[in-house]
Amino acid sequence: MSDETSTGLREEVRARYAEAARAVLEPRPGVTAQFVEISATGSCCGGTAGDSCCGAGSAAAEAVGGFSENLYREGETDGLPEEAVLASLGCGNPLAVADLHEGERVLDLGSGGGIDVLLSARRVGPSGFAYGVDMTDDMLALARQNAAKAGATNVEFVQGQIEDLPLPDASVDVVISNCVINLSTEKPAVLAEMFRVLVPGGRIGISDVVAEDHLTAADRAAAGSYVGCIAGALSRAEYLDGLAAAGFADASVTFTTEAAPGLHSAIIRAVKPATA
Ligand SMILES: C[S@@+](CC[C@H](N)C(=O)[O-])C[C@H]1O[C@@H](n2cnc3c(N)ncnc32)[C@H](O)[C@@H]1O
Repeated sequence: MSDETSTGLREEVRARYAEAARAVLEPRPGVTAQFVEISATGSCCGGTAGDSCCGAGSAAAEAVGGFSENLYREGETDGLPEEAVLASLGCGNPLAVADLHEGERVLDLGSGGGIDVLLSARRVGPSGFAYGVDMTDDMLALARQNAAKAGATNVEFVQGQIEDLPLPDASVDVVISNCVINLSTEKPAVLAEMFRVLVPGGRIGISDVVAEDHLTAADRAAAGSYVGCIAGALSRAEYLDGLAAAGFADASVTFTTEAAPGLHSAIIRAVKPATA
């Protein structure tokens, strides 16, 4: 992909999520964050808990369902600010994947309105910490407002790109992400940055859209848009190869829900070896 195409796609993604954030920050009747995603390009990456959204609007996805059905367990989001739940645009539940423990430091790539950072902060408790990184200013404003409403003191939302993380080397125990890596136009850089910021022995627990290996890039582009989380999806083999190239061990990609033919919500796990 040329630099120009990459920059153009990134700005399209940023504009779309800025608008989705504003739909929650400045509510208008009938306009939800998910509606903004769908109306912009005919598909979207997520929906509110229990809602179905990602890929809806693309013929392929409508044939099967969405990427975002019942992401969170019953009661899991109780007590969070309503705006954090309304802005949920993921395609899985990375917390369930990451198995967080008291005292751990967690980083969420593409933290959006903050739902997974706030849930992580609860899980790791006052001795732990949860960071969110997002490139979209309106999403950061929404996430910080949600953190203040939640009274969360062990969280920080940082402006930045997931391809060039604004965190020091070996500074977190766990990296999570929910339906964001498919949106990156420089995925090897994202995988390398995850590896860099993790402590030795650290792990990733990621939800993302992943394609079956037989789908070519052209097939994926025909199935849906880039900003709708479909055209930029890696295949399972591409994910595993990319994680190995970045240095990760014990990598796995497990399909959970087929949301469009050959395109799945998936759980991605891997560890940074404890010794080099
Ligand atoms: C599909 S939404 C998911 C938000 C959140 N993870 C959730 O589950 O609700 C994608 C988010 O990733 C952010 N994002 C997309 N590409 C990014 C990049 N290259 N660097 C940083 N943030 C990015 C967008 O601004 C948006 O907030």
